[in-house]
Amino acid sequence: MSGTAVARLDELTAGVPRLVEVGGARIVLARVGDAVYACADACAHQGGPLSQGKLSRTRLACPWHGWQYDVRTGQCVFPGRGASVRSYPVEIADGEIRLVLS
Ligand code: FES
Repeated sequence: MSGTAVARLDELTAGVPRLVEVGGARIVLARVGDAVYACADACAHQGGPLSQGKLSRTRLACPWHGWQYDVRTGQCVFPGRGASVRSYPVEIADGEIRLVLS
C-alpha cells in the first residue's frame, strides 16, 4: 500500500471538511458518503482556508468570497473561470485514509 496515512474514515463526518498537514502541505479532506476526496486547502482566489468552508455533497465553498470547488477534481465550479486547486489521490483500506502526494 502506498501513500501517507492521515486519518481514519470513521473520524470524518460527511459535510464537515477536515484539515490535515502532510509533508508541509495543507490539505482538506472531504467525505461524501463512503468516499473521501482531498484537495489543497488554500483557495486559488486569495488563499482562503477551504477547510473552514461549507461542504455540500461534492461542492466546497470558500469562506472568504464564496468561490466553489468540486472536491472530486479540485475544479472551480463558481465562478466559471476561476482557477482550480490541486487535488490528491486518496486510498482507503481497512478504514484508513491515505494520501498519495507524488
Ligand atoms: S479567497 Fe477564496 S473566494 Fe476569495
